[in-house]
Amino acid sequence: MTVHFIGAGPGAPDLLTLRGRDRIAGSPVCLYAGSLVPAALLDHCPAGARIVNTAPLSLDQIIAEIAAAHAAGHDVARLHSGDLSIWSAMGEQLRRLRALGIPVSITPGVPAFAAAAAALEAELTLPGLTQSVVLTRTSGRASAMPDAEALPAFAATGATLAIHLSIHLLDKVVAELIPAYGADCPVAIVWRASWPDERIVRATLATIVAAAADGPERTALILVGRVLAPGDFGESSLYAAEYDRRFRPTTPQSRFAGSEA
Ligand SMILES: C[S@@+](CC[C@H](N)C(=O)[O-])C[C@H]1O[C@@H](n2cnc3c(N)ncnc32)[C@H](O)[C@@H]1O
Repeated sequence: MTVHFIGAGPGAPDLLTLRGRDRIAGSPVCLYAGSLVPAALLDHCPAGARIVNTAPLSLDQIIAEIAAAHAAGHDVARLHSGDLSIWSAMGEQLRRLRALGIPVSITPGVPAFAAAAAALEAELTLPGLTQSVVLTRTSGRASAMPDAEALPAFAATGATLAIHLSIHLLDKVVAELIPAYGADCPVAIVWRASWPDERIVRATLATIVAAAADGPERTALILVGRVLAPGDFGESSLYAAEYDRRFRPTTPQSRFAGSEA
């Protein structure tokens, strides 16, 4: 018996991995975080599966569900939105399951920030502008931010920011970012990326609060950075004709010549 943690993706049912789909199909028990996991993914559960929405459950109750499945010898598909490596509450479940000696597997999913970038048709790292993306959030009731990770600290890097769980604090976010990024820095908000009701607002730090005033206060990513309206930016050397590389030696004398034969 194994608990299969599965990244359920950002919302669109076809943004689940094939491995995730197969693990759902092979598990007689499915626990899913109902607030963000699309119900359509439950169609992959086998007939007669026990399907439990964990949104109203405590951690103790979730572990009790898993322990019962373990006692019955039933695999569990455990679905969380997006990918499991960020804000999934998987860590605390893993710790409990390891203490109980219950085996696990982990299948990654498409994170919401990637779905938002796709919706914006944007690359978040561009030569000469930034080569880093910061996945962050602001303090919430469930999780406080460590002092060193306050937004102004990340803003000082000039990296592209993908700010989660913070749309209800948009005015505070903007006030903290303007000193480092400038009021004219591009911002995009993507609500429910990849869902049928996906919505996008583009503006600048100066104008985003007004532009987003009628947007919902849930399930949105705030993306900030010059990459969102890049204008003139450099090209990476990777595909430059004169760039000597293993897969495309430029001369017979190249140190890479013949290495891919
Ligand atoms: C608890 S976190 C889960 C993050 C998830 N594990 C991931 O990999 O993206 C929930 C936050 O992620 C963001 N989010 C999740 N799904 C989203 C979507 N489809 N569109 C925009 N933002 C989303 C929002 O900021 C939301 O408040």
